Amino acid sequence: MKKKVYIETYGCQMNVADTELILSILKSDGYDITDDIESADVILVNTCSVRENAEERIIGRLGDFKNKKSKKPEIIVGVLGCMAERLRDKFFSYDHSTSKNTSIADIVVGPDEYRKLPALINKAWHGEKGVAVQLSRVENYDDITPLRTNGISAWITVMRGCDKFCTFCIVPFTRGREKSRPIESIVREVKELSENGYKEITLLGQNVNSYNDRGKDFADLLKCVAQVDRNIRILFTTSHPQDMSIKLIETIALESNIAKYIHLPVQSGSNRILKLMNRNHSVEHYYQLIKNIRYLIPDVAITTDIIAGFPTETEEDHQQTLELIRNVRFDGAFMFAYSPRENTKAYEITDDVPQSVKMRRLNEIIELQNQIAFENNLKLIGKEVEVLIESTSKRSIDKMKGRTNTNKKVVFPKNGYMIGDYAKVKITSVNSVTLFGITI
Ligand code: SAH
Ligand code: SF4
Ligand code: F3S
Repeated sequence: MKKKVYIETYGCQMNVADTELILSILKSDGYDITDDIESADVILVNTCSVRENAEERIIGRLGDFKNKKSKKPEIIVGVLGCMAERLRDKFFSYDHSTSKNTSIADIVVGPDEYRKLPALINKAWHGEKGVAVQLSRVENYDDITPLRTNGISAWITVMRGCDKFCTFCIVPFTRGREKSRPIESIVREVKELSENGYKEITLLGQNVNSYNDRGKDFADLLKCVAQVDRNIRILFTTSHPQDMSIKLIETIALESNIAKYIHLPVQSGSNRILKLMNRNHSVEHYYQLIKNIRYLIPDVAITTDIIAGFPTETEEDHQQTLELIRNVRFDGAFMFAYSPRENTKAYEITDDVPQSVKMRRLNEIIELQNQIAFENNLKLIGKEVEVLIESTSKRSIDKMKGRTNTNKKVVFPKNGYMIGDYAKVKITSVNSVTLFGITI
């Protein structure tokens, strides 16, 4: 009988895409994939280190897996991804004070070593623990077709790693240096997805704007990808404001099937803090970018990421962030309290904003941003939008859920539509994150 693998995924979309690679590697090696942890022979967790609370949640989960293993010792538990890279053999600790083996994993595998998984799991069956956390300058898994199950939306990782070294961020340490996949192989993958009926593709990278394949930049890649099948909607994430070119904005504007949606993390509205963050751009540069984007792509939706309470952030810096949010009027944002990460540059600056102040600032940011997103959505009432349907609504099986070409979520009555269809919907009501409407 085939052995069964169960995997849980935390963190960003790149991890979700990596999980599809991991499953593909294991399936080729003869494993069955299961959603049922109780029947699994191998339990894997693909982890995230970006903030401390992300890691704490995963450590808690590993405690659950350890309990399962104590009842069924033959189970193999594997820690993969960014925490594996960061913490390495700390998952195999031995507690000297109690002489107890406190190990919570059998194998630990970093993001560039997934090809070794079958061999490491095999060794683990024979009682040998294994760590593989070498980062590679070349590994991009270009020849591995991810194991996709959704049928409508697909991720394609176009580049791995990050060279930006924002001072708060652990990603350059857990993912290593930037490396881009060749354009031809990405286009080939898009063609296959088109032949298999996929309707939406999201190109992924920590900083897609620095994509570079022998002189071809991200705008060149986007154009090639968009031309494969005009019925496939193309999205991408994430853009760094420093490298966002006019050429790229024009490409988004000109190619009809590229979503009119840009996720452009700004992190702070204070030039002093942006400098300390090593973001390499000013607030003024960001405003100019937004102006160019809105001029060239009139109905574009723009979202961002914000960090509250970076070390030394004053009330004035915080007010400048609120002002930037008021001025730009983002359609959405991911908002976080600063979390110190060991080995980063910012870790060396005292984390001096008290937790209560961080949380108060974060809440002010969230409240303001939600109000603005709501007001932006209100303007869509009465408008007709084209929605790509991705699932039935969680709340009601008579309703469908999809997204506009500005990546806004829309819920509307089923009316004979199927998942994967494009529907014309008239918006009748909204809240800060969802539009509701009727088909026309
Ligand atoms: N590559 C992407 C972001 C990856 S991490 C980019 O550059 O935009 C996603 C978001 O997590 C970041 O944009 C940032 O807002 C947040 N983040 C990263 N490190 C953090 C930290 N130490 N504390 C709080 N938020 C953090
Ligand atoms: Fe982290 Fe900055 Fe790289 Fe984004 S661009 S992954 S925030 S270092
Ligand atoms: Fe987390 Fe690693 Fe992504 S730290 S955000 S899973 S690159």
